[in-house]
Amino acid sequence: MAERETWTTRIGFIFAAVGSAVGLGNIWSFPFQTGSNGGAAFLLVYLLAVFLIGFPAMLMEFVIGRRSSMNPISAFGELGYGNWSIAGALGVFTAAVTLAFYSVVGGWVISYIGGSLTGAYFGNAGAFFGAVSVGSTSVLTHAIFMAITIGIVAFGIQNGIEKATKVMIPAIIVLLLGLAAWGFTLDGAAAGYEYYLSPDFGYLAANFASIVPAAVGQAFFTLSLGFSVMIAYASYLGRDDSLPADGGAIVVVNTLVALLAGFVVFPVLFAIGAEPGSGGLGAAFVSLAGAFGQIPGGSVLGFAFFVILLLAALSSSISLLETPTSYVVDNYDYSRKQVATALGGIIWVAGIPTALSTNTLGWYNAVVFNLLLPVVVLLFAVFVGWVASDLSADEVGRGTSLDAGFATTWLWWVRIVIPVAIGLTLVLGIQSLLVRAGVLEAAVILG
Ligand code: PHE
Repeated sequence: MAERETWTTRIGFIFAAVGSAVGLGNIWSFPFQTGSNGGAAFLLVYLLAVFLIGFPAMLMEFVIGRRSSMNPISAFGELGYGNWSIAGALGVFTAAVTLAFYSVVGGWVISYIGGSLTGAYFGNAGAFFGAVSVGSTSVLTHAIFMAITIGIVAFGIQNGIEKATKVMIPAIIVLLLGLAAWGFTLDGAAAGYEYYLSPDFGYLAANFASIVPAAVGQAFFTLSLGFSVMIAYASYLGRDDSLPADGGAIVVVNTLVALLAGFVVFPVLFAIGAEPGSGGLGAAFVSLAGAFGQIPGGSVLGFAFFVILLLAALSSSISLLETPTSYVVDNYDYSRKQVATALGGIIWVAGIPTALSTNTLGWYNAVVFNLLLPVVVLLFAVFVGWVASDLSADEVGRGTSLDAGFATTWLWWVRIVIPVAIGLTLVLGIQSLLVRAGVLEAAVILG
């Protein structure tokens, strides 16, 4: 077996982790979740969830990964708790399920880049979306997206992931800033900002049961938590970085990118008078693309927007594929190229049903959001907080100048606050799955 790689530089790790975090979740789903959950009211709960739950939860995965220098399944055995491998494995499974449909959406983005060049979606974005989002086109673009993902992962940590994300992240930020500046000049800007930034507390109180799980689920998803991905990435870290400092930087940059995406999307939607909450899964692809078709200069802007979306999606999908790949490469004598190709191929097949039906895609997404993510994060919290607490507290402080009080506070936060918050989210999340399946007519708890 080849020697295990590490990141060449600390900033290389930060770029890669930001790349994982910044994705379709920030640019595609965040503005539309905000739109369909009451705008600023959702934003507020989301920000609380990111900083109070997401940030400490990210450190849990970092601790497991760096302490063990192992893939997320073998890590637990390496630390002396082999039984807990199941938790890591569930995270890896979640990563694989997510990649299956993430790649399909990545494929839609590829179609829209083409459509921006030819103008194919300008007249009727809804019809274009219908044509490219399901059926043979979707299966094909899903294959193209997966092939690019495999290509990058096959090159490994330093030559693949680190090099790619170092270019992608600055490109995403610069392009988004440009689009946000342009959004500022649109007629809809003021109304868009107003909706985005002034919370309606009445709405929040009335919709608490659906806003909380949506906001917490979105926080985990956007920070790539509960997929074992951050365990895998932290396992390639050197011993002397400060995990809280790196985690803080990652959380802040990721949040800024999401906020920035809102500054692009809301002015555009309000400029053409589109409903911010309409459109469900297809939102960015129908209402936003339709708006690009109606605004002067929209084709260039649409092109830039979908290029950003593709870069963001790829810098995330590589982390999703890296996670199962790291397990096989650590444990078996196959080359990284063979493993990435084989696993990418299997996951591509698993994604085909979601390329044939947006309803199926919605189900994959809902099960990941409402069930798998909270369960996995909960297991990690119990492991880090209660089972392996001594080594966790030691590891979180290593390489930092923070005093022991930080580690102790963090540990108690992980022991109590995170499980309670996730417990609530999980109950509400399962409830919303039951409502979706038609087993329950409407929310009963906090309904
Ligand atoms: N964080 C990514 C996003 O917001 C999604 C993702 C989750 C990517 C987990 C990798 C791992 O789109």
